Amino acid sequence: MSAAIRFDDGAAYAQYMGVWSQIIGAQFLDWLSLPTRLDWLDVGCGNGAFTEQIEARMQPAQLAGIDPSTAQLDYARSRPQLARATLLQGDAMALPFADNRFDVAVMPLVIFFVPDPARGVAEMVRVVRTGGTVCAYAWDMYGGGFPYALLADALREAGHPSPAPPSVAASRPEALQALWQQAGLTDIELRRFDARRSFASFDAWWHIATLRSTTRERLAQMDSATRNTLQTRLRERLAEFSGPHGQLHLSAHAYAIRGHVL
Ligand SMILES: C[S@@+](CC[C@H](N)C(=O)[O-])C[C@H]1O[C@@H](n2cnc3c(N)ncnc32)[C@H](O)[C@@H]1O
Repeated sequence: MSAAIRFDDGAAYAQYMGVWSQIIGAQFLDWLSLPTRLDWLDVGCGNGAFTEQIEARMQPAQLAGIDPSTAQLDYARSRPQLARATLLQGDAMALPFADNRFDVAVMPLVIFFVPDPARGVAEMVRVVRTGGTVCAYAWDMYGGGFPYALLADALREAGHPSPAPPSVAASRPEALQALWQQAGLTDIELRRFDARRSFASFDAWWHIATLRSTTRERLAQMDSATRNTLQTRLRERLAEFSGPHGQLHLSAHAYAIRGHVL
């Protein structure tokens, strides 16, 4: 993982990204349309936002998750719904599981953080049985799909850019398709999913959008004039998404991909 990008607060992540992840996650599970009682692996399970949806919707026979972040795993382990799940510290590029162990492996909002995405996909293929499903979804980072793209733009314009995930190019839909093809998967399908999320006000959005420690550090590095200019610019840019009482209705989109193991 890039040294500059940290997942060090599972509760902050829940508000900042977990809500967005679950809006896509619900549509993604509908699309997968898999039977219940399968063995699932959630690669980069983070604070358990999507893992919890697997447990609730898919009633898995077995459910495992791996993530390198202690803080994210601590939060995931605190979710009552995940009491049965096996949540381990690990890396997508070296999954701590035997071959042919799962029916489904999923990588939700993770592939752009994996230094060698092809190796991560190959690992999912290794641990999934013949006929099983290897799938993922990722924000369309180059197509304006990232939920906080406007904040990222404003930080860059202010001279304090957020670090890019190490494998951001893997978020392109054609890159996902190529990764799945090169991994030897079959019946490959790609689908775009849109998410809409409302915030009570600009201030409510600002609070949540700036919860990540990397963003807070960038704001702390600015003088107050620069910070005020950045906030004013964002208020102006977000105005077109505001409702009659100042609520903000924002959207994001992700590409999902699935394929079967031969
Ligand atoms: C945006 S979060 C997604 C978390 C969760 N899947 C969700 O949908 O909310 C990205 C996660 O990828 C994890 N991650 C980063 N590098 C990873 C790697 N090499 N292998 C597995 N997970 C990784 C991070 O620790 C973080 O929890």
